[in-house]
Amino acid sequence: MEFSIKQGNPEKLKSACVVVGVHEGGKLSKAAQALDKACKHTLSDLIAQGDMSGKSASTLLLHKLPGIDAERVLLVGLGKAGEQGAKSRIEILQALFKALHGTPAKEASLYLAEEANDNDAGWLLRQAVFIASGQAFRSDSLKSKPAETAKLKHITFAFLDKPQASLKEGVARSAAAARGMALAKALGNLPGNICTPSYLAAQALALAKAHKKIKTTVLDENDMRKLGMGALLAVTRGSEQPAKLITLEYSGADKKQKPVVLVGKGITFDSGGISLKPGAEMDEMKYDMCGAASVLGTLQAIAEIGLKLNVVGVIPSAENLPSGSASKPGDIVTSMSGQTVEILNTDAEGRLVLCDALTYAAKFKPDTVIDLATLTGACVIALGHVASGLFSNDDKLAADLLAAGAETHDRAWQLPLWDDYQPLLDSNFADMQNIGGRAGGSITAACFLSRFTKDYRWAHLDIAGTAWFSGKEKGGTGRPVPLLTQYLINRATK
Ligand code: BES
Ligand code: MN
Ligand code: ZN
Repeated sequence: MEFSIKQGNPEKLKSACVVVGVHEGGKLSKAAQALDKACKHTLSDLIAQGDMSGKSASTLLLHKLPGIDAERVLLVGLGKAGEQGAKSRIEILQALFKALHGTPAKEASLYLAEEANDNDAGWLLRQAVFIASGQAFRSDSLKSKPAETAKLKHITFAFLDKPQASLKEGVARSAAAARGMALAKALGNLPGNICTPSYLAAQALALAKAHKKIKTTVLDENDMRKLGMGALLAVTRGSEQPAKLITLEYSGADKKQKPVVLVGKGITFDSGGISLKPGAEMDEMKYDMCGAASVLGTLQAIAEIGLKLNVVGVIPSAENLPSGSASKPGDIVTSMSGQTVEILNTDAEGRLVLCDALTYAAKFKPDTVIDLATLTGACVIALGHVASGLFSNDDKLAADLLAAGAETHDRAWQLPLWDDYQPLLDSNFADMQNIGGRAGGSITAACFLSRFTKDYRWAHLDIAGTAWFSGKEKGGTGRPVPLLTQYLINRATK
């Protein structure tokens, strides 16, 4: 999907569809007024007749109106003027693009942001890019007869007056983030028999091939053994698929600039291991590599943008399966940091692969490390599918991530990392155990990670509830690529 910005009169636009807003009560937006005048008040007549009420997220598609050059006009209800919150704006955009995708139009021109202030306009166009791209995404690549790709290929954001210059760059960056989301979704949707640790490694190598500024290295189990990654290796023991530690280095700035390191959990299937999960919905544990997928999607996005920042992606990838050689509850392993861990539950495997990856991350002398992981079911219980759980040892970093989440509507919510929770990880036999019991499950998981991140500024995003949808809409969401990309953009430009 391509996006551009343009100034012009709506009645003169040679477009397959021009989209304008109508407020509740029938008040026309400025662009709608211009169209109404050109077609001798057909629009106001239709509104007076009750065909369009302006109710939020309602739509009315009209064809070949006299006096209007565009083939179609799509009226979209904006609700009561001045009463649009983020949620209703998003519903309006979803309805609008659903209606557009339902027409044969290959392109469309949208007058959306003319009544918004500059800040709002940027937010609105960003969401429009994400939603239009999201609706064009197809998840049937493994069907023998995939459906046709979306017809709608080009969106023009049109303005009556000269648009603010920064919108153009904002739209281009959002489009790059949307492509990063699409990559993350596609990888998340792939089943465990295709998307293995080796497959993720191949994807990372392909990214390096496509972008000169990305360098990818892949460590195998022998390399990891030499580094002393006993925790990561304990997870892969039951699997026939070799584990991989994948590193992508994006060099967008001077070598001397310390990088941001993104660490993504890459469990390509999480059966729970010997602490086997129940059967219902176990298929969804193919999504347990969505942290890794977001690292790849974000790196692709910032490479396309050409962001002036150094960013490293680290992906510890393995499959968590039971077998005769699998790790057992009670096993004690030594992590790369030297700390020993009693594995009381082999299903708490994410923190085991992450702790060694987080120790490894220090080798890049990071300014900041952010890990992303579908880490705990408890996070889904706490925050549902709306917000990702955020933990950090640095309040400024937490605030910056929360702000980037709000800017992109890819929101996070901070939970405490207080020392009071740490004793729940005490073990009689090792430096710590890998579970802290049911109470505060996301927090004790984060506390576990915090024991490996003492030497740098660090944040952890638990994306167990936000990285994919279950049920009828089952599929990856591409989150938190928007949040991360925005955070990095803000860092590079502020
Ligand atoms: N990958 C899961 C977390 C998960 C569960 C993500 C459900 C999305 C939906 C993780 O590896 C896991 O199994 N965590 C356990 C931890 C427990 C054993 C302490 C959990 O949340 O039950
Ligand atoms: Mn697990
Ligand atoms: Zn897991």
